[in-house]
Amino acid sequence: MYCLLWLVIVGHAAAAAYLPLPPAIQCNGSSGCTVENYQGIWVDRKPCKAAQALYPTSEVELFNAVALASRTGSKVKVVGSSHSYNKLVCPGGDDGIIISTQHLNSLIHVNVSSLTVTTHAGVQLRDLVERIAEFGLTLPHSPVWHGVSMAGMISTGAHGSGLWHRGSSTHDYVVGMRLITPADEEEGFAKIIDLSEQDEDLNAAKLSLGVLGAISQVTFQLEPMFKRSASLEVEEDTHLDGDGIVKFAKEHEFGEIWWYPFSGKALFKVIDRVDADTVGDGANNMVILDRLGVDLIESLRRGSETAEESGNLGVLCQEETKMMNLRQRSGDGFVNSGKTFTGYPVVGLNHRMQTSGGCEKEEESLPVITPTGIDFNPSHEPDKDTGSEFVDQDAHLPWQTTDDKLETCMWNPTINGLFVFDTAISVPISRAADAVADIKRLRDMNPEPMCSLGYIGGIWIRFLAASSAYLAGSTESIMFELVYYRARDPFTPRLHQDLFEEIEQILVNKYGGRPHWGKNRDLAFANMRARTVAMEKFLDVRQRFDPSGLLSSEWSDAILGIQSLPRGVQTFQDHCALEGLCVCKDDSHCHPTKGYFCRPGLAYEEARVCRYETRESSSSK
Ligand SMILES: Cc1cc2nc3c(=O)[nH]c(=O)nc-3n(C[C@H](O)[C@H](O)[C@H](O)COP(=O)(O)OP(=O)(O)OC[C@H]3O[C@@H](n4cnc5c(N)ncnc54)[C@H](O)[C@@H]3O)c2cc1C
Ligand SMILES: *[C@@H]1O[C@H](CO)[C@@H](O)[C@H](O)[C@H]1NC(C)=O
Ligand SMILES: *[C@@H]1O[C@H](CO)[C@@H](O)[C@H](O)[C@H]1NC(C)=O
Repeated sequence: MYCLLWLVIVGHAAAAAYLPLPPAIQCNGSSGCTVENYQGIWVDRKPCKAAQALYPTSEVELFNAVALASRTGSKVKVVGSSHSYNKLVCPGGDDGIIISTQHLNSLIHVNVSSLTVTTHAGVQLRDLVERIAEFGLTLPHSPVWHGVSMAGMISTGAHGSGLWHRGSSTHDYVVGMRLITPADEEEGFAKIIDLSEQDEDLNAAKLSLGVLGAISQVTFQLEPMFKRSASLEVEEDTHLDGDGIVKFAKEHEFGEIWWYPFSGKALFKVIDRVDADTVGDGANNMVILDRLGVDLIESLRRGSETAEESGNLGVLCQEETKMMNLRQRSGDGFVNSGKTFTGYPVVGLNHRMQTSGGCEKEEESLPVITPTGIDFNPSHEPDKDTGSEFVDQDAHLPWQTTDDKLETCMWNPTINGLFVFDTAISVPISRAADAVADIKRLRDMNPEPMCSLGYIGGIWIRFLAASSAYLAGSTESIMFELVYYRARDPFTPRLHQDLFEEIEQILVNKYGGRPHWGKNRDLAFANMRARTVAMEKFLDVRQRFDPSGLLSSEWSDAILGIQSLPRGVQTFQDHCALEGLCVCKDDSHCHPTKGYFCRPGLAYEEARVCRYETRESSSSK
């Protein structure tokens, strides 16, 4: 059964039970604690260990936690919601201290005269946007997922999409911050550093990967509430050529694009600012962030496993255009009011349009009745004329079960659900057209593998402004994000993995792309000095704030390019390229016995990728 993503969700069954997510941090008496990311497995599949975990509820308690680490010389790391993909939240070594901000979330202080809000580090995005809206204020941009903490969000450079004004990166709205750094005994082993926009060090602290200190509070610059107006259009991907992408980015304040290279089409999300008094009560409830049935989630996964194992992408490819059109016609999560999509434009308050979720919590979220995606089951033909099935509560879809169905997040690691690589690389805007042209060349050489990208929605293209944060990008840039299948078994190559590796290396190496700090596989973080605004200045601040490196780990040192470290970001061992721990140098880094050999790229010769070759073709090389 090919049941794929973007299916039509007809609403939560009223009696659906909830399968909770496991806590990111788990402790077991004297054997210590572990911390996991949202998918439950780190890039290197090794656990992240610590001796203990602390849960401060106030700045004083946070201070005491940092002081404890400092007094005992322990490695320490602050964990927000642990939704980052790579090992940023892991303290160095195995016996450090984890500080969770889960309960550091009671402060949301709005100043209506300065249009700012000051929050505790652990406040969740969903609570922030709702609360400030009560005061007629809004944070113009944010990640699409509302289950992140304020400090975690800014500390990885999390963003929305848009080049205008301050841009789409949340750290560029930070105008103040309080953080606790380790200190000498005379100072009580910790101290509070209070930064405002006048302090140059804020450029380091507002995007810090957690290595400068434990953030207690963050102050954001807000704007008076406005609305967004959204329309979705499917276009030929020739619209991405030349200055096409850049023109689109400059014309639409919140625009973004989902590119389906196999079909040669792209879904343009045309999203603009309109006045707060424009009529419309819309929202954007992204289906993949809402509660979904466990049966459904597992059947999606099985569908992709079957495609991988059989090597047959036929159905995926056949359905891609249909799927994309269905997204467009169904609103793709946009609803005009309540639960229904009736047509474009969808106009709604900024905070209802910018971020969503729902799967992270036990309580019933806003039920989604809209067409939220695409049913990939070939036997289920969508109604081409009206799209009316989307609001038909009685629609009977094969995967729908009855009242006892369990619901959860797609990525809940306790079931066989979403398990993917997440490659997100931003390329300077001046190189975007060339990057697109290279991906198209690769597509034209071998179109079919590209359709496995359609599974999660194609290549997601978003826009970032130049930033003053030392660890951000110094130019306007275009973020390309690819989410693709990862095998449960570390030694199983991914079908057509050479293609994904080549795109990754084109973006990182050929175009000097900058990886999203909170996503990506290890290899993407090589040579970050060349890709950031001011790495030297950042490291200088780190030296002043945390000279003993208590908040740093081997991984954070590696990605910051600290030279004293024996290894760079890559780990060379057998099969290392299968999971992006390395760029292959020889065949052993791939999987020769399974037919995967280290070969040059097809469109970018300097790339080194693991390509499947039959014995005949490989011996002829
Ligand atoms: C479903 C999903 C959707 C996403 N969508 C987007 C998106 O649209 N755009 C985007 O850019 N990203 C997106 N992300 C990535 C996400 O926004 C980032 O990974 C973000 O950093 C996660 O926040 P967190 O609270 O989980 O941080 P964590 O992963 O817990 O921590 C991130 C970093 O912040 C540090 N940190 C956290 N709290 C503190 C503190 N109090 N003091 C000091 N350091 C601290 C940690 O040490 C770590 O280095 C998404 C992730 C998921 C899982
Ligand atoms: C806790 O640790 C003990 C001792 O190491 C181990 O035997 C036990 O299985 C662990 N329990 C859990 C729930 O992990
Ligand atoms: C609110 O902001 C104004 C203007 O910046 C400032 O003068 C005032 O002190 C702030 N109020 C509080 C309670 O912080």
